[in-house]
Amino acid sequence: MLPTIQWKKDRVVMIDQRKLPEKEVYVECQDYIQVAEAIEKMIIRGAPAIGVAAAFGVALGFLKMRKGKDVEEEFSRIVQRLERTRPTARNLFWALERMKITFEKNKAIDLSQLKKRLIKEAMEIEAEDVETNKKIGFLGKGLLKDGDSVLTHCNAGALATAAYGTALGIIVAAFKEGKRIHVYADETRPLLQGARLTCWELDKENVPVTLITDNMAGHLMQKGVISKVIVGADRIARNGDTANKIGTYTVAVLAKEHRLPFYVAAPTQTIDLSLAIGSEIPIEQRSALEVREFGGRCVTIPHVEVENPAFDVSPASYISAIITEKGICRPPYEKSLKDLFNKTQREE
Ligand code: MRU
Repeated sequence: MLPTIQWKKDRVVMIDQRKLPEKEVYVECQDYIQVAEAIEKMIIRGAPAIGVAAAFGVALGFLKMRKGKDVEEEFSRIVQRLERTRPTARNLFWALERMKITFEKNKAIDLSQLKKRLIKEAMEIEAEDVETNKKIGFLGKGLLKDGDSVLTHCNAGALATAAYGTALGIIVAAFKEGKRIHVYADETRPLLQGARLTCWELDKENVPVTLITDNMAGHLMQKGVISKVIVGADRIARNGDTANKIGTYTVAVLAKEHRLPFYVAAPTQTIDLSLAIGSEIPIEQRSALEVREFGGRCVTIPHVEVENPAFDVSPASYISAIITEKGICRPPYEKSLKDLFNKTQREE
């Protein structure tokens, strides 16, 4: 199992995903500001992993709290700093909300006990993510059949979560069952999560993978090479519209044109029932340098204007199914997602 992120005594340790696959380097965060910066710089990335990192960030920040300080004010400061890191990832806000609820419920107890309680909650969030992803893999693997060639975009693997991954978790689970699956990985410009991370992960799992540039998917679909698409998600609106890495929408349109199943795999924490439709999802804009440069070298005129939205929205009508840990939802999503949450509430 890949150690994406770990709580180690009084620090948070994470693999530096910017350096992969060349170097396996670990970064140690000693306070919550370092955790927030690690999320912003994408040392850690992927919506579920960001959620876990944020929960650990809160626990770490609070661990440094001294007696006599305004505990509530300090707690809010920590949460607000982490909230400002990556606006699209729903799991970030979900995890912070859980930490806030834990704080509110326990704020009257002794400070050292409260610190322990927050660490415990963050560790539970991490452990639950591992279980959630195992379930997504288990439920989703039935959608893949022997001989499938699956296109994926960005990285929705173990590195993007506490472990196992979502979209890649399904692929690996189907592969381990003996199905012959071949993956086509979009390189995913500008930061190359597909080329650097997805290929690295699949190679470690011995899953056959072919790397393509983002503009090759249409050609391969036209040639009949791709049979299915599976991607992850950063935020899903009530009607099923899904924000994922920039370029996912293009793949969804191509899949529809070629009548190929287009699956989204995500934990229920990624679903944001407060948003009616995808256009309400906040889209993160990142630095122009990520587009102007390639491998640290400027590849254009240095003053050229740049657009760098980190995510786009695939309309629900392009999505064949949304695979969650609680079940597989089919269109119309307004109903199936609602039913999923109602069922969950009844079980709790
Ligand atoms: O900018 P990133 O690398 O954080 O974007 C990641 C993605 O778009 C993933 O597909 C998504 O977070 C799901 S990860 C299980």
